[in-house]
Amino acid sequence: MSAARARVCANIALVKYWGKRDAALNLPAAGSLSLALAALVTETMVAFDGALAADAMTLDGVPASAKDLAKTSEFLDLVRARAGVTTRARVVSANRFPTASGLASSASGFAALALAATRAAGVALSAPELSALARQGSGSAARSIFGGFVRMEAGTRADGTDAVAAPIARVAPGFADRVRMVIAIVGGGAPKQYGSRDAMEHTAQTSPFYRAWLDLVPRDLAAAEVALAAGDLETLGAVAEGNALAMHASAIASRPTVLYWQPATVALLARVRALRADGAPAWATMDAGPHVKILTDAAHADAIAASVRDVPGCTEVLVSAAGGEPIVEDLA
Ligand code: PMV
Repeated sequence: MSAARARVCANIALVKYWGKRDAALNLPAAGSLSLALAALVTETMVAFDGALAADAMTLDGVPASAKDLAKTSEFLDLVRARAGVTTRARVVSANRFPTASGLASSASGFAALALAATRAAGVALSAPELSALARQGSGSAARSIFGGFVRMEAGTRADGTDAVAAPIARVAPGFADRVRMVIAIVGGGAPKQYGSRDAMEHTAQTSPFYRAWLDLVPRDLAAAEVALAAGDLETLGAVAEGNALAMHASAIASRPTVLYWQPATVALLARVRALRADGAPAWATMDAGPHVKILTDAAHADAIAASVRDVPGCTEVLVSAAGGEPIVEDLA
């Protein structure tokens, strides 16, 4: 047994995953579509070592919490079962994110763990198998097995082998190079967040709008794919913003509510609308947190970043280009 390292980009969904058809295997209730982000990279090293009595892990240079270690061990058990071994592993994982804001890292984290652990254990999996494995760590991680624009399928099989992601085949030439994501971090005084796993389950069980959300997703996926094939940023942006607002609307209507927004989130949404009224290509999307991510193009990204930096409560702004494929390497 040996060691391997994976470098993986996080991704941001333009059509969101929110709700499961099976909790045990983490099977999504609907498809989703995302863009990998070059600026948000997780690097993970896994070394299987017969001398270890238990798995050990550092995260961003410090020992991982008991909860993170337990989740990692549980995931490594899936890899060990496939490899037919019981050997424990040392995991060193770091988020190369240019911020400590708590931007979601489960997508790149579990994808990097899946890629590094399978390589280190000598388990050769196809890309769809790797995607299905990463999905068991976190739904969005299934998409981070690939670079660029990626689509995740809900699938219909009970074993989840078809609940996997793949790169979108038809994207207009040059479009992935042209897009940018401006990430406006909302910090300070954040109330305790609800984890996406519990929050999406709660939405599915209690929101009167959950059914409408599920009906919307296939339509938004189809519209986003048409826009990508045509290189139509305006249509893609409108779909992404509408989809994110619909996801949040269904979550907000849960009883009790799942409300991720802070005052600065709303102020940023208003700023994005104002930018658009001034003719800038800018569309917002939000995940399970207060931050606002703005889809735009390379020609406008810096001006949009400068504009949102002024919004009270926005503490930091990053600009990211589209991210590429993961890089996996054997270590001696
Ligand atoms: O992969 P999870 O369980 O962290 O859920 C992701 C949920 C969203 O980020 C809100 C949407 C998405 O598709 O990434």
